[in-house]
Amino acid sequence: MDAESLDRSIREDIEKADSFESLEQARIKFLGRKGLVTSLLKNIKDASPEERPKLGAVSNRLKQLAEDLIAAKLDSLRAGRVGSRFYTPPIDATLPAHDGVTGRRHVLLEVLRQLKDIFFGMGYSLASGPQVELEYYNFHALNFPDEHPSRDAQDTFYITDDMLLRTHTSPVQVRYMEEHQPPLKIIATGRVFRNESIDPTHAAEFHQIEGLYVDTDVSLADLKRDVEIFVQQVFGSKTRVRFRPSFFPFTEPSAEVDMSCFVCQGRGCSVCGNTGWIEILGSGMVHPNVFRAVGYDPEKYSGFAFGIGVDRVAMLKYGIGDIRLFLGNDLRFLRQF
Ligand code: DAH
Repeated sequence: MDAESLDRSIREDIEKADSFESLEQARIKFLGRKGLVTSLLKNIKDASPEERPKLGAVSNRLKQLAEDLIAAKLDSLRAGRVGSRFYTPPIDATLPAHDGVTGRRHVLLEVLRQLKDIFFGMGYSLASGPQVELEYYNFHALNFPDEHPSRDAQDTFYITDDMLLRTHTSPVQVRYMEEHQPPLKIIATGRVFRNESIDPTHAAEFHQIEGLYVDTDVSLADLKRDVEIFVQQVFGSKTRVRFRPSFFPFTEPSAEVDMSCFVCQGRGCSVCGNTGWIEILGSGMVHPNVFRAVGYDPEKYSGFAFGIGVDRVAMLKYGIGDIRLFLGNDLRFLRQF
């Protein structure tokens, strides 16, 4: 067999081999003791001195070719053997690549980021405090008297008698004021906890943004301005706000803020329960007792505070009907955002 047909034969036989056995037969045929390539190599010494180098080069090339092809085939047979118990799809390298698994922000984090951005734009800076909080900061310093019924609205999980999982982000107000002097304008964000019966609108863990502004002449008008800017940035510039008298121990006066329904523009629909208004946050003017607890002179300073439920804003913004989805880790839900 001349070199050219031997070359072709090596390629064809090894290509055709579809099992370890047939590949071994091909190996013996070309590289075995009496194999075709082996005999070619053996013939070199009988060739004439002029022929010898050429024959040597050709035989060595064929030997290398057979070895390389056999090694490659062996690899694919091994891989195929692993895969052969399953369906191994043919590979079409011209198809577009699969989407990689790209991570994304959790919808709550994304909403939180947007809300924070709005407040940073209004000159607020970020403060933070622990989720495992002292009873003192969560209640006492915020003017919740011991044993007072106002604590019932925020039942929580106690670690010890004087340590608990914070029920709101308001304790960060106290911690921050203890360490800083006015003027100050901060938000504090994070997870809060309550001993709730869980249902579509109540979770034992949720998220809040606390706002606090203290200076010498802060008034309710300042509160109203910031709240209005915030609500309009999130829900559109036509959104109106209204303040309803309310009660929080740490503010006086206190107000619940409603915004005009962004779905029906106030005409009444299922989202706003036909009232035209949606409750969006709690707020008020910082109570003098809170200032006293941190050593501020209530005659000198005034301030406002507010608390926003981040989960609630996210639910409204995206029409999410069940707060439990946020902590559920269900990718079918999370991938929608
Ligand atoms: N901490 C309150 C709550 O969790 C929300 C709140 C209301 C915060 C009024 C405030 C405020 O700072 O002034 O229900």
